Amino acid sequence: MKNIGLAGFGFIGKFLYERLKDSKEVSVKAVWEPISEKTEDLDSQIVCKDLEDLGSRPLDLIVEVAHADVVKALLPIITSDADVMVASMTCLSDPDFRKQLEHDAAQNGRNIFLPHGAVLGLDGLRDGRSLLDNVSITTTKHPQNLGITNSQIKKREILFEGSTQEACSQFPRNVNVHAAVALAGLGFEATHSVIIADPNTNKMHHRIVVHGRGLNWNLEIESFSAGEVTGSYTPESLYQSLLTIISENHGFCIV
Ligand SMILES: NC(=O)c1ccc[n+]([C@@H]2O[C@H](COP(=O)([O-])OP(=O)(O)OC[C@H]3O[C@@H](n4cnc5c(N)ncnc54)[C@H](O)[C@@H]3O)[C@@H](O)[C@H]2O)c1
Repeated sequence: MKNIGLAGFGFIGKFLYERLKDSKEVSVKAVWEPISEKTEDLDSQIVCKDLEDLGSRPLDLIVEVAHADVVKALLPIITSDADVMVASMTCLSDPDFRKQLEHDAAQNGRNIFLPHGAVLGLDGLRDGRSLLDNVSITTTKHPQNLGITNSQIKKREILFEGSTQEACSQFPRNVNVHAAVALAGLGFEATHSVIIADPNTNKMHHRIVVHGRGLNWNLEIESFSAGEVTGSYTPESLYQSLLTIISENHGFCIV
């Protein structure tokens, strides 16, 4: 049995907890969430009073499903031997933080897992990165799913166009898929991001266009909006990534 902790108990955190409740392989032993009402039905033994408490518990894996700021606060204080799976990976657009984290993880023999989350094709980007010339990603969401409430946006509008580096700092909760594509491929500065608000859609649409030596790829991924910032595919995708990381089963392993 592997023990995991959840940092964040919102839409995805709750989904993962429910999915793992009857698991014979994985047990949720710790949950940190700043809004105490969200965890009041949980066994008080597993509720952590703060991030230090979560970071100090003996866990095999901590799954971050909260916010980019939480990753920055949590990772430096983890004292257990836990690996970490990060959903809010826009925080990795900060080059100093990214380098420090990579260094610390390597020093401590720890892994920081970056799940594919809402997008597909990261394996191909990663494997082909020495061949890539251009990578761009365009995301179209309803304004509310981009954190814009009481929207004055009445028709489809380009909100941002520029480097993924800049997109991550302007939209930290909304472009984790851009961060993932940058991390797998050409990096944050060289990856091109476009963010479009469309009040007439209930879908989250990502288009990834890649040109390289001997290759042209065009990936379109669409899922229905489920949480405020999250599409319907993502919780299941993170759950399956978690099982792949932690499973001790042997047999076929898709890589
Ligand atoms: N990698 C991906 O493809 C992908 C896809 C969708 C969402 N995400 C990210 O996963 C995370 C969780 O998504 P969700 O749909 O469960 O969100 P959510 O808003 O439903 O839940 C987040 C939870 O974290 C808590 N939290 C703790 N510190 C916070 C802070 N500083 N700011 C905001 N919330 C804080 C909130 O109280 C909330 O309960 C978000 O950061 C989201 O951007 C990643």
